[in-house]
Amino acid sequence: MSKPLLLIDTDPGVDDALAILMAHEHARVSALTIAAGNVGLAHTVRNARTLVDLLGADTLVYPGCQTPLVRMPEEDAVHVHGTDGLGDVGFSEPKAVVADEHAAQAILRITREQPDLTLVALGPLTNLALAVRLDPTLPQRVKRLVIMGGAVTGLGNTGKIPAEFNIGFDPEAAHVVFEAFPMFDLVDWEVVLRHAFNDGEFNAWLAAGDQRATFFEKVFGTARAFNAKRGRRGVIAADALAMAVAIDPSMVTRVEERHVAVELDGRLTRGATVVDWTARLGQPANARIVMAVDQDRFGAMVRAALGA
Ligand code: BDR
Ligand code: CA
Repeated sequence: MSKPLLLIDTDPGVDDALAILMAHEHARVSALTIAAGNVGLAHTVRNARTLVDLLGADTLVYPGCQTPLVRMPEEDAVHVHGTDGLGDVGFSEPKAVVADEHAAQAILRITREQPDLTLVALGPLTNLALAVRLDPTLPQRVKRLVIMGGAVTGLGNTGKIPAEFNIGFDPEAAHVVFEAFPMFDLVDWEVVLRHAFNDGEFNAWLAAGDQRATFFEKVFGTARAFNAKRGRRGVIAADALAMAVAIDPSMVTRVEERHVAVELDGRLTRGATVVDWTARLGQPANARIVMAVDQDRFGAMVRAALGA
């Protein structure tokens, strides 16, 4: 398999970190464009640079929007990822440079220069929404868009029960993107829960891996403890699953094509992804909802990215 070319919009984030390790192992990474989300933009930009340093890569890091498009977020994910977004390990100031171009403009420029790339969205969709508003032809010149976001039957992970974090953080941005792209791959929170790794197996990868595994073991503590406290089983890696689908779509074993819209107003449901499961509204499908992937192939991809 030739290595795909990826442009990654991300809010690192512990599971974003694992996804970025995977991308640099299994794909060519055009750039990292950075969103606010799990933690504030200053932290997410710095975390991306820490990862670039760890990898010894020359991937450019483009800072994006500091806030959602319209309303201020109701919550962040400090309680999951730590105050700094990478488990509060206390890494020193990274050396990787911050590019002098806004993420939304970088997305537009890079997709013009490299028309064959896959866009991978691992955070709130603010930068992508801004980019598509600046240039509505963006969807025509990307090969695929893979989004980690949503909860397709309402099993969300935020204070608004049916909303998943990335969509719930900036529902208006998600609405813009879902309407603008004629088709995208959606890796939602529910498929993520169905593809958790066995704890023992994952621990063995960490123990047998290289400096990437050592790094990940350090940053993973807070998120792991949070998930265990919530009664979630196994190692849950949302952005890693989306990244696996972006790198190798042939590992998807079941998909449902449906129309998906974003709730913007609901008192209890703002940020929910509403799926027209029975095609009652007569709108064309805009999402390939990933329902299942080959777990062994997903595991092999993560394992290799940890050097194990
Ligand atoms: C998503 O929210 C973030 O906390 C994770 O990084 C992931 O992108 C999961 O709902
Ligand atoms: Ca993320």
